[in-house]
Amino acid sequence: MGNQKVAHLRCGLLISMVTVGCVLSAIGVVVIGAAFYAVGGVLGALWLRSIVKTAAADRRCEELRSVLERSERHCLEVLRKVIYYVEARDPHWGGHSKHVGELSERIARELSLPDAKCAELRLAGQLHDIGLFAVSDSVLSSRKKFGVSELDCVKKHSEVSYEVLKPLDCLSQDILMGIRHHHERMNGTGYPAGIAGEKVPIEARIIAVADSYDAMTHDRPYRDAMDPMQVMSELRRCTPAGYDRQCVDALARTLKLTALEADTPDPAPVLQAPSS
Ligand SMILES: [Fe+2]
Repeated sequence: MGNQKVAHLRCGLLISMVTVGCVLSAIGVVVIGAAFYAVGGVLGALWLRSIVKTAAADRRCEELRSVLERSERHCLEVLRKVIYYVEARDPHWGGHSKHVGELSERIARELSLPDAKCAELRLAGQLHDIGLFAVSDSVLSSRKKFGVSELDCVKKHSEVSYEVLKPLDCLSQDILMGIRHHHERMNGTGYPAGIAGEKVPIEARIIAVADSYDAMTHDRPYRDAMDPMQVMSELRRCTPAGYDRQCVDALARTLKLTALEADTPDPAPVLQAPSS
């Protein structure tokens, strides 16, 4: 029974008791009338107390919810600041996480994923490289091809991102998995887990495409920026071994590159250096 119905019944019972008490007192049955008054009064007081208690509990819940929301907002703001300072170590990286967040959300919308998932993907894209704080400045800004130890260090960043963010209740498991596996490749040659195909979470497949597109369309210490059509053909060349075809198609559609692609002959492969 709903709370409103119970309240109506209680109110009705209270009024009936007081009315009966009045009638009995008026016709001379004073003792029984007074008893009705007394019981009605006690019940009324008890009900009033429970109403006040419930209202106080509701108010407390509301306060706690608002404290929780504030602390989640604060926590995300701190994380974005960390990303900002990670990227500020090298001018080439400025804005990368923000762009990946935006592109990931656009790809997700193009794939008709639910609104909540699209919003999660924006956040996952913004946070995906937070683990780069564990990579030294000299490696991050290196103009040379990475050696084995440097490559090992860089390859740890997605796992570090995951470990840093894992304790936060405000991030869903889907976001965390998208971040952890954003360097997996469809044929299993990526890292950190070397998983392949459908085992790579859709969030990670989307972030991988957005990440590579943004990295390739911007200057890096080891190469100049490529134009969007060159990048699309590079992504196509690495699909389906590296990237999910649906995600690459969705990227081309959302960037309105599909028609241009149809008119462009396939250029030679360009990418040799790491994409992010
Ligand atoms: Fe990354």
